[in-house]
Amino acid sequence: MDAFLVTGPVRLSGEVPAGGAKNAALPALAASLLTPGPLALDRVPPVADIRTMLKLLAGMGVRHEATAPDRVTLSADRIVSTEAPYDLVRTMRASILVLGPLLARFGEARVSLPGGCAIGVRPVDLHIMAFEAMGARVAVEKGYIHAHVSRVGPGRGRLTGATIRFPQPTVTGTENVMLAAALARGVTTIENAAREPEVADLAALLAAMGARIEGAGSGTIVVEGREELEGTGAGAHTVVADRIETGTYLAAGVLTGGDVTVRGGRAEHLGAFLDALRSAGATVEAGDGWVRAASTGRLRPVDVETAPYPGFPTDLQAQHMALMTQADGTSRIDERIFENRFLHASELGRLGAQVRLEGHAALVTGPTPLSGAPVTASDLRASAALVLAALVAEGETLVRRIYHLDRGYAEMERKLASLGARVVRVQG
Ligand code: UD1
Repeated sequence: MDAFLVTGPVRLSGEVPAGGAKNAALPALAASLLTPGPLALDRVPPVADIRTMLKLLAGMGVRHEATAPDRVTLSADRIVSTEAPYDLVRTMRASILVLGPLLARFGEARVSLPGGCAIGVRPVDLHIMAFEAMGARVAVEKGYIHAHVSRVGPGRGRLTGATIRFPQPTVTGTENVMLAAALARGVTTIENAAREPEVADLAALLAAMGARIEGAGSGTIVVEGREELEGTGAGAHTVVADRIETGTYLAAGVLTGGDVTVRGGRAEHLGAFLDALRSAGATVEAGDGWVRAASTGRLRPVDVETAPYPGFPTDLQAQHMALMTQADGTSRIDERIFENRFLHASELGRLGAQVRLEGHAALVTGPTPLSGAPVTASDLRASAALVLAALVAEGETLVRRIYHLDRGYAEMERKLASLGARVVRVQG
């Protein structure tokens, strides 16, 4: 299994490019199911989760080709299956994003239940509730969600627009409903919708396909369904820059007392995170298409509480924890989105960090000198936190199970090395 061997401590400086957001590219790929026309998408990041989604779609008959570097063109004109099998869904929860488009275009779908994962139970009840409200019959049998729309009755095999009020914002839930509503009969209103930039990016793509969508990025999204949607030509849609990847490299720069600029990074999508970096004592600057963070390495403790966008992102919580191990004092990190997302705490402890867990909060006391040790990654963002900590740890740290990291970061070792890190991919 691949591992990273990181030798520290180092000070990072320089510039790295931001890739396209994995979490925006995944629903964009699922949108290919909505139309027989070819759909061209630019800045699709070359990460494992994208390959998983392409494999899932290929199993349904969606052809794809890389028509330029970072450009994928998908054609869903010959669908042979409306099933998402367990083997792929279990490796990636976001597979649930095919449910909405399949139901909307073909009137049926069978998608394996994602099941539990390392960071908590993460149910999909809100997705199911929404599709039922849009006229689908949904049964959960033998580990599969089986949904269909009756061909007799008012919908005649098509979903019907409805008002969906989510009791709590759900990112993929909002996206799944947007995808389905774009081809439903009538108007769908999503209340308490997720406001993440990835949701707005999906709306932009759907609009380019001919959908009528208003309000994406706010708490209320209104979609007027169309009978058909079209493909998009080359250059019509470029996936938004990855704010989590951007934040990860900025955190790495600050943690190492360095100076890192992320080209293509969008500061306006990272408000709460950049505020935390500034409170920690970093200098943060941004312009059109770049964000820079620099630090002397002397950091102040900063309390954060994860929240739906525009709050502090749960996907940067682990990286913030790595940063706080070097802050002068105790910081409190409250995880409010997922119930079991502190698996990195004990591994950081193996490097010398002092982290105490109290229910959904972690108390980090610093600064603690870190020293290299073998550690094991448990999930995508936890892996990033371990790599960050390894950059300031004295000696060699072997970060095992890097496949978690490869799900969402493209060429992290190369990008970090270009900033001056000593990190190599090894077998371990
Ligand atoms: C997405 C992101 C993930 C990020 C998360 C929160 C993608 C592919 N993944 O995941 O990186 O960490 O948003 O920002 O975009 N919930 C339910 N029932 C449901 C759906 C969600 O109870 O049917 C709960 C979840 O357990 C969680 C909360 O709602 O507590 C928010 O989860 P959600 O926004 O749905 O996360 P994902 O879309 O899975």
